[in-house]
Amino acid sequence: IPFRISVPASSANLGPGFDSMGLALGLYIHLDVADSDKQAFFAHGSSESEENHFIWNISKQVAERYGVTLPSCSVQETSEIPLARGLGSSASAIVAGIELANQLGNLQLTDEQKLAFGTELEGHPDNIAPAIFGGLTISTMLEDDIPSVRLHDIDLDIIAYIPEVELKTEVARDCLPDTYERNYAARASAMSNIVVAALYSKDYALFGKMLENDLFHEPFRKVLISHFDLIRENAKMLGAYGTALSGAGPTMLSFVPKGNGEAVKQEMAKQLEGYQVKLLKIDTKGVSIS
Ligand code: HSE
Repeated sequence: IPFRISVPASSANLGPGFDSMGLALGLYIHLDVADSDKQAFFAHGSSESEENHFIWNISKQVAERYGVTLPSCSVQETSEIPLARGLGSSASAIVAGIELANQLGNLQLTDEQKLAFGTELEGHPDNIAPAIFGGLTISTMLEDDIPSVRLHDIDLDIIAYIPEVELKTEVARDCLPDTYERNYAARASAMSNIVVAALYSKDYALFGKMLENDLFHEPFRKVLISHFDLIRENAKMLGAYGTALSGAGPTMLSFVPKGNGEAVKQEMAKQLEGYQVKLLKIDTKGVSIS
């Protein structure tokens, strides 16, 4: 103490990689932690009681699990991650809470332990894993383990189209079928396989094409997303490899040839009134302490 915890935002799914793939993005939650006799949490400049603070509640759950008492401190939270837009703000907050407990309780948690705890709270690992590891992650849940693969060198520019409206993940999950027929599921899974293989072989044109062929969630969710087809088609005309929903939406994300991002962003921004159109960096560090 004092120290700063920074956790990146993330974009889950990447088209067909439903509940499995995620990409860490250069927007952050920061926690500035300092000594204090009294426990205090400040979010966006206003004081909040620690009982009610989501992040501090996560820290307390971690402390309880590991049987430690956290010392009192003051925590100032600032966040660049818009809420309920499909950019993983809740997963980033969970990872921030886990790391806060890890630092204050000197728990020396491994990344795998942080991933297991975060996934238990979130229900799926696709935003938690990139928030911890950085880069692009592919993960899944086994009974007693969360296997996760990281891919750091992705030579693409990324543009996010962030609308003003919020969309709660629960609402966007309620639109999905409970079951998929076998042939359908096999095709959906094959799309995802090619997305991963194309990323590894850096065949970004194929990556973008398959990104737009998700069968798991986008066909059911696009009714909730205004301008879904328009954004996809216009980005393609401007040279994007592919555009997908970010997580459960409503933000959409385009993957663009390296170096072209700024020009595509400017053109797209002209067409999308009321949206924040941002050129985002890929975060390659994941959660960090400074
Ligand atoms: N994979 C999740 C979904 C991400 O699409 O519902 C959002 O939490």
